[in-house]
Amino acid sequence: MKYYIQTLGCAMNYSDSERVAAALGKLGHSPAKKESEADLYIFNTCSIRQKGEDRVYGKLMTLGERKQREKDLLIGITGCMVRKTSTKKSPREKMDKLVRDLKPVDFVFRIEDAGELGKILKMAAKKPSVRAINKAAKAKRIRGAAKAAREIVTDSVDRLDYLDIAPKYSSGFQAFVPIQIGCDKFCTYCIVPYARGREQARPIKEILAECRTLVEKGCKEITLVGQTVNSYGRSDLDKKSGHAYGRGFVETLTKSAQLQFAKEPFVALLTEVDKLHAQGLNRLRFTSPHPYDYSDALIKAHAKLKTLTPHFHIPVQAGSDETLKRMNRRYSAADYKKLIKKIRALIPDASVTTDIIVGFCGETKKDFEKTLKLYKDIKWDMAYLARYSPRPGTVSQKFFKDDVPRAEKARRWHALNTVLTKSSRDYNKKLIGKTLEVLVEKYDARTNECEGKSRENKLVQFPAPASKGLSLVGTIQKVKITKALEWNLKGEIR
Ligand code: SAH
Ligand code: SF4
Ligand code: F3S
Repeated sequence: MKYYIQTLGCAMNYSDSERVAAALGKLGHSPAKKESEADLYIFNTCSIRQKGEDRVYGKLMTLGERKQREKDLLIGITGCMVRKTSTKKSPREKMDKLVRDLKPVDFVFRIEDAGELGKILKMAAKKPSVRAINKAAKAKRIRGAAKAAREIVTDSVDRLDYLDIAPKYSSGFQAFVPIQIGCDKFCTYCIVPYARGREQARPIKEILAECRTLVEKGCKEITLVGQTVNSYGRSDLDKKSGHAYGRGFVETLTKSAQLQFAKEPFVALLTEVDKLHAQGLNRLRFTSPHPYDYSDALIKAHAKLKTLTPHFHIPVQAGSDETLKRMNRRYSAADYKKLIKKIRALIPDASVTTDIIVGFCGETKKDFEKTLKLYKDIKWDMAYLARYSPRPGTVSQKFFKDDVPRAEKARRWHALNTVLTKSSRDYNKKLIGKTLEVLVEKYDARTNECEGKSRENKLVQFPAPASKGLSLVGTIQKVKITKALEWNLKGEIR
């Protein structure tokens, strides 16, 4: 079959899609060049806001129409909207509501079950792939597949196992590497702990092996991904398993390094990945860290490790302590300010970015003014602004009132966006005249321009001759910045 995967959501989902693609490849399926040529369509979904879910429903309407003409088209869903791996043929009580309620959907699978895709597809397919088999054999196979699928639905295999699938990376020089799954923070507005389950660290040995293989193949930039990467190794499940994530790795360390490792497992992990600098790793990034777990040792690591970039994406969510408390964020605005002060003391030109939610339950105009004030104080050079969207099953949806009217949420969003736009332009302006290292991601033959990111994670475009442009993709170039726009920089190759 030809497959097409549509990915929505965060870095974790993009990384997961690479594993789904690899699993499909192993089963003999290949990627469709165009969406319309696919006979297997998979959504990797995001539930963080209603908007993301609505996009899936919208697309399913169009696909549903296509399916009336192309009866063999298979449609599946994975990612954060899915709760139970199941197909239209699963027993009703074991069906996920997406399979039960949405006619065009043939199967859904929890991402942890990506390794079982072969069985799931067999179960979901209307016709067995080999038509020439006789009826009895056919019935037996379907019965077998049905039994297998039922087992998948009931048993939760070890949730980390799917990370063993070697991904089909979408780039040769940049990669996401998952280091943990789930989240234990339970911020009251957030669906992630329900969609992704409890936090669990991926074994260090496996993370390092994946990073090493990537660098050997020419990867220059690795982003470690997880929901709260800097709590790596500290979750309840990690403690329960006797810190199994360190086995096979900790034993290789000296006694004093072992002690250090026990105190700061995330820093220890970064230190190990950083050693790949000698083999060609140029940049190490991670997303997202949580302010609560941002230790001094981690800040110091930024100044010490060669590959760590001067970009700090640290979600704050709100500037009012009352709102932060209701969100269950475990820090105050003053704590956050202190953290940024420490970072800037060590790395003065650091790019500092954040996530903010406006219009959370009970957020008064005064509370919002505090967020605005914090923005003006900290001057994040970039921020992702979201309007609060109640998510079914979360604490805020069950116990608080979504009491900020839509129009007021929009007003707050625009007020913050105005400050953000200015702040982003101001930061970019400071870069004029400087020479930045740009990892070139693409070349546009129509405009004769290359585009890539600086170590600060800023988007930089620069002209390149048609004869050379494409060959620069995947290389690191020194680019002198000549112009600063709101969201990007223009420069010239040096
Ligand atoms: N693990 C990361 C964030 C993951 S979700 C962290 O804790 O920082 C990405 C962003 O989506 C969040 O930072 C938050 O700003 C936003 N978000 C999460 N739930 C939301 C909701 N219910 N409504 C609006 N925005 C939300
Ligand atoms: Fe959601 Fe909070 Fe976990 Fe981030 S830390 S994923 S916002 S629960
Ligand atoms: Fe969305 Fe799930 Fe990521 S809800 S933000 S895709 S963890």
